Amino acid sequence: MTDNLIAIQNIEKSYFTRQGLLGWDKHEERILKNLSLNIKTNQIFGLIGESGSGKSTLAKIILLMTKFKGDIYFKDLNLNDLNRAELRKLRSKMQIVFQNPYSSLNPMHRIGEIIAEPLKIHKVMDHIAIGNRVNELIELVGLSLDALNKYPHEFSGGQRQRIAIARALSLNPEFLILDEPVSALDVSVQAQIINLLVDLKNQFNLTYLFISHNLDLVRLICDEIAIMYFGQIIETGPTELVYQNPQHPYTKLLLSCILKPDTTIGSLPIINDERTVKSLRGCPFFQHCPYAQNKCQDVAPLLEASSGEPNHQFACHYPEPA
Ligand SMILES: Nc1ncnc2c1ncn2[C@@H]1O[C@H](COP(=O)(O)OP(=O)(O)OP(=O)(O)O)[C@@H](O)[C@H]1O
Ligand SMILES: [Mg+2]
Repeated sequence: MTDNLIAIQNIEKSYFTRQGLLGWDKHEERILKNLSLNIKTNQIFGLIGESGSGKSTLAKIILLMTKFKGDIYFKDLNLNDLNRAELRKLRSKMQIVFQNPYSSLNPMHRIGEIIAEPLKIHKVMDHIAIGNRVNELIELVGLSLDALNKYPHEFSGGQRQRIAIARALSLNPEFLILDEPVSALDVSVQAQIINLLVDLKNQFNLTYLFISHNLDLVRLICDEIAIMYFGQIIETGPTELVYQNPQHPYTKLLLSCILKPDTTIGSLPIINDERTVKSLRGCPFFQHCPYAQNKCQDVAPLLEASSGEPNHQFACHYPEPA
């Protein structure tokens, strides 16, 4: 029996784009490269990395919303081995809350219908039980019953995100992906939604994959984290170990931004140059790394632990200056 709720092994994902005057040249763009990570039951696992590094793509892959190569395990079940009916059942155990509560709720439907939709699709209970469950869910996320007859446009961003959370919880999931769940909200509302999510996690023994650009928030609520750079995990480990003793030069740069007065506190630096990074065989951070040697350009470093801390792993040939 594993203590991982989700184990992701050797995930590869490419998109194919057409190039050239007539669009005849098919060009493969590798988005995720041999990516593996484990999310333990009952933890909040933080995923950080600059825009375009592949965080949302990984979220879609875990929820089987897009094709991929590699293996995903839910507890001991390999999702590749399940038939359609088994996948459908498992799918109800994994839900997502998106960044933008303005586009994630159907504007034509009343809130009651929106929250009831997954229950109807999965046919898990009769009409009366669905009504009771919807009442329970709306109160669980801190809204009153009269919200159920209203439409999404009648609510603020924070209230809409509460509704999105109620819908995500409707099927009693075990695992929630929170893809920047508060970044579209006013700062004063962000804390309320985060408190709600942490309370719900404790109340229902949930496990979260928390995708965020807010480094302070990740430190506050996540048990473990992974840092992504150009489709690869470049460092991972228990949150405090990584924050107090970052090893990869990119992680060091990232975390130093929290302290610098001349950068936006808690936000990620954008330092990539897509064309050149994608053509590299070795470390994707090679061009920007102050410690880089020739080997870094040619040989991709593996994600490995340093001595003493087996859970703290990083992919770097020369984490310190030579
Ligand atoms: N449907 C698609 N077709 C082609 N390329 C795509 C598609 N979806 C995403 N991509 C590309 O995949 C890469 C990763 O995108 P993704 O949305 O996963 O990044 P992200 O880390 O979530 O970024 P952000 O922090 O801005 O949300 C980007 O280069 C993006 O352009
Ligand atoms: Mg994203």
